[in-house]
Amino acid sequence: MLEEIRRVRESLASVVAANEQELEALRIKYISRKGLLNDLMARFREVPAEQKREVGIRINELKTAVQERLETLRTQLASTETVSADIDLTRTPYPQPLGSRHPITLVRDEILRIFARLGFSVAEGPEVEDDWHVFSSLNFAPDHPARDMQDTFFVEQQPDIVLRTHTSSVQSRVMEKQQPPIRVVCPGRVYRNEAISARAHCFFHQIEGLYIDKGVSFTDLKQVLLTFARELFGEDTKIRLRPSYFPFTEPSAEMDISCNICGGKGCGFCKHTGWVEILGCGMVDPNVLKAGGIDPDVYSGYAFGLGVERITNLKYQVSDLRLFSENDVRFLDQFVAAH
Ligand code: PHE
Repeated sequence: MLEEIRRVRESLASVVAANEQELEALRIKYISRKGLLNDLMARFREVPAEQKREVGIRINELKTAVQERLETLRTQLASTETVSADIDLTRTPYPQPLGSRHPITLVRDEILRIFARLGFSVAEGPEVEDDWHVFSSLNFAPDHPARDMQDTFFVEQQPDIVLRTHTSSVQSRVMEKQQPPIRVVCPGRVYRNEAISARAHCFFHQIEGLYIDKGVSFTDLKQVLLTFARELFGEDTKIRLRPSYFPFTEPSAEMDISCNICGGKGCGFCKHTGWVEILGCGMVDPNVLKAGGIDPDVYSGYAFGLGVERITNLKYQVSDLRLFSENDVRFLDQFVAAH
């Protein structure tokens, strides 16, 4: 019997289980009620008295060895099951697609950074505004065409409340709250009652600039705009100011930059003129300063308002304005690498 126990013990090392069923079969073979160990125990009674002590010890040792072996096989099985053969551990992980920033956001932030370096801080105001901040405080005559339903979205049954048509409304809010020196840029969305096409949309984005202090002149305005244009489009960029009209500035101008798509030679984008209009500007009208509680005899200032879509088109040559608001990831994804 001692010999039998020794053989069983020796064979244990080569006992294996490829799956749960095989492991269960081993359990039954060795330690179930009718298993090998119970069989040995049953025959223990027949062992001669002088051998009983040693056989008893050996049976107990075998029992422990069997339990240990089964336990080892069980742990091996559990770890091989989670890493099944069809998983390739050397494969690179699935790429987690990062969202991209909207081109309008990228260009807006770039513009704000340029003005931050020139000492401008950021101010914001509401998109749903009252007539005073959008029109009246900015010197619009009561019969000005911008107040027409054709151009402006009004809030139903509240003729005094509109969707702001320009960010100049924020100028007027800043003046109410702050005395000069004032040096702010005001980014935001604006709304106009336009038929939607490749070249026009019912909403777009502007950045307003306002600088008020003692002795601010048109020269300061021109210099800050030139610096801005060169920072954004490169050292070789030229600017051109054309006389214009806005109710809230006097004198007023529109600024063109040399077309950075054709380098000023003339192309489809600049309608073969070599120039592209990017903003309106001028010296803040004394009436506007007065409406904002600022004394026009002491202070003067300049203001400008630029279109973010137009500048984005120039930088990235986007041909259809509607792409900016369609949320098509095939369009939006292209702007990840650009910055
Ligand atoms: N508010 C004008 C527009 O929307 C732009 C502008 C801003 C012009 C400030 C002059 C001064 O077209």
